Amino acid sequence: MWTSETLEWIDIELTSFCNIKCKGCFRVLSDYKDDILNKTYLDLDTIKEKFQKEMFPNIKIINFCGSVDEPCSHPQFHEIVEHFAQWGCHINVATNGSLRTTSWWEKLAKIMPPSHRVTWGIDGSDELSEVYREGSSFKKVQQNFKAFIAAGGQSVWQFISFEHNEHQLETAKQMAKDEGFKDFKTIISHRKDTKEVKHKRAKADSNPGERACISCKYANQKRIFVNHMGNVIPCCHLNSKMLEFPVSGKHKDRFEDILVENDYMNDINLKNVTLDQAMNSKVWNGIKDSWTDDVRIPKCESTCAEKIRDKFIKEQL
Ligand SMILES: C[S@@+](CC[C@H](N)C(=O)[O-])C[C@H]1O[C@@H](n2cnc3c(N)ncnc32)[C@H](O)[C@@H]1O
Ligand code: SF4
Ligand code: SF4
Repeated sequence: MWTSETLEWIDIELTSFCNIKCKGCFRVLSDYKDDILNKTYLDLDTIKEKFQKEMFPNIKIINFCGSVDEPCSHPQFHEIVEHFAQWGCHINVATNGSLRTTSWWEKLAKIMPPSHRVTWGIDGSDELSEVYREGSSFKKVQQNFKAFIAAGGQSVWQFISFEHNEHQLETAKQMAKDEGFKDFKTIISHRKDTKEVKHKRAKADSNPGERACISCKYANQKRIFVNHMGNVIPCCHLNSKMLEFPVSGKHKDRFEDILVENDYMNDINLKNVTLDQAMNSKVWNGIKDSWTDDVRIPKCESTCAEKIRDKFIKEQL
């Protein structure tokens, strides 16, 4: 199912640092945030040792987007991009855009490979964007994206639509066009938990006899996720549990059982294994086996059985 030979897409969470506090982010919502956040980086030596192009002949995308990180906060972010730029694949960076100077962003545009995108999370067409992106500065983000685009960088404007900002959607789209963004992506966030989503979730939980098959989104995309601790896991959806378990020690469901039964720190951490070994590890086999077991991982069930996901609308500008 997953091997380094067939792998096409790697998500990498580079750090546990970020400069702002978005209201729906794990950084704000987790009960264990103080023990998890602002502690570590995935270091450059580990990256150079464990991610070598020859190991991944079919790689197409490196995606710097984790659950808790602002990738641009990594002190060696330019060096990391330079490492992957040699691979001849696409690089994507998801950012809140409010860190660093305009010259830092100009340099980033210069070292990016020809196929790349920086996705700017800007949820408004002016300072209203700071309502969700608490601690950000619209003006600073604007200076940064202008500098990046002027230096040849290719950008996507990502707008998370909420009740408080949806009236600015069209203005933001026009602004993105005028500023030279390539694409505009609207996210209608599921994190509001609408009645419809709650109903679907309740239905999925209440009738295990008639449950849908799990169709693993990441396996289908030949994609994996590596978090800032160096743990290699199948997807971003399992990352909040992966980050919380070492500090909470709480067995919440089948996922934590699989971690403990298989000595997870030795089994899937880049300090001890290669990406290929992690993909063939006991933890990963436990996760795959769980999809057809009586007791499934609730996160796999809610994400990949009923397909309750954010809706993404992508438009070329
Ligand atoms: C945790 S962030 C990490 C990357 C970077 N710090 C950023 O915000 O773009 C990962 C992704 O989640 C998105 N995100 C944040 N809040 C969200 C929400 N309420 N619903 C859907 N996606 C959200 C971000 O825009 C980003 O694309
Ligand atoms: S910028 Fe990204 S990582 Fe930082 S708080 Fe917002 S969503 Fe979370
Ligand atoms: S939640 Fe489970 S089934 Fe869905 S992508 Fe992740 S590992 Fe695969």
